[in-house]
Amino acid sequence: MESKQSTEGKWSHGESIPVKNVQALAESAAELTLEAIQRYIRPDSPNDMVALALHGESIPIVDLGRLLDSQTSQQEAAVLKSACEEWGFFQVKSHGIPDTVLENLRNNVEYFFRLPLDEKNKFGQLPGDLQGYGHAFVQSEHQTLDWCDRLYLVTQPPHERDMRPWPTTPVNFRESIESYSSEVMRVTRSLVQAIAKNLGVDLDKIRDTYSSQALRMTYYPACPVAHDKILGFPPHSDISLLTLVWELNEIEGLQIKRQGAWVPIKPHSKALVVNVGDFLEILTNGKYQSIEHRVTVNPHKERVSITAFHNPKFDMSVGPLSEIVGGELTKYKTLRVDEIAKVVFSSKLDGKKTREYAMFSN
Ligand code: OGA
Ligand code: NI
Repeated sequence: MESKQSTEGKWSHGESIPVKNVQALAESAAELTLEAIQRYIRPDSPNDMVALALHGESIPIVDLGRLLDSQTSQQEAAVLKSACEEWGFFQVKSHGIPDTVLENLRNNVEYFFRLPLDEKNKFGQLPGDLQGYGHAFVQSEHQTLDWCDRLYLVTQPPHERDMRPWPTTPVNFRESIESYSSEVMRVTRSLVQAIAKNLGVDLDKIRDTYSSQALRMTYYPACPVAHDKILGFPPHSDISLLTLVWELNEIEGLQIKRQGAWVPIKPHSKALVVNVGDFLEILTNGKYQSIEHRVTVNPHKERVSITAFHNPKFDMSVGPLSEIVGGELTKYKTLRVDEIAKVVFSSKLDGKKTREYAMFSN
């Protein structure tokens, strides 16, 4: 028998109360009843405040090819700068991830989620750890639940991997996760390099703030009944430096909060969605803000996404960088990363938790 590894010091430390598998629930009845989905119905009205049009604006698109080409990099860096300052969200195209890497992972993820429940549960969460197939952020028996199932894995650096929850079906699933993980790391490195340059910060000073990576693969089943009263993922900002989302089957659902309204992001087949995380907000003393986002549920189609979180090393401290603060007021405390992670992972996901914890109240 494999011995239980310590989960201390990793980006997966935490507990979540086990709840029903959502995919099985969605598939259990020919017609879902309101009663069957009662625990998912939101007390507020998630459909309020949805902005159907964006007053002519659209989410910025950063072209990584142009950013890396010395002829065009300055121009593209300006696009990136305003995306970080004005939106906190953007799409990145020409990211250079080979189609075969994307295709392999897409096929394997779709195959995995179609497996019978007991097959998927072989890679279920272990006590005290959030990695594996299951749920997260469930802290009370009365909490409204999210309409999704997740497979969460710590992927970088390689020596921090615990292979037990990594699925072995299909046979090359692990391999395809590894390839995607290093490709996304490469894209992230290029983006952070350009962000550091835009901010006038020495890259060496922030190298450890994004070296840890975790992937969350999420399956949001379709919900033909009351889909407008439930959410796949409630409003939250990401506890990360930078997050990259691949909307694998190109179904709409992700919405960002902008000027008080929920704005849908249209999936772009050749792009990844990037967002500023809480740690980048702290490092920049609030110059770049992490933006609340959520996921709605489609009445007829399931949605699958893969989120890649790039996080600081667990045992370091993060606070506003002195070269950015300059003579301004320091708005955030310098805190240990594991301390912040503990607070966020042991509570219900709700709005900007990290900011509440890390910001000086004055
Ligand atoms: C997340 C997230 C968005 C999505 O995992 O933090 O916001 O599209 N996911 O699944
Ligand atoms: Ni998120």
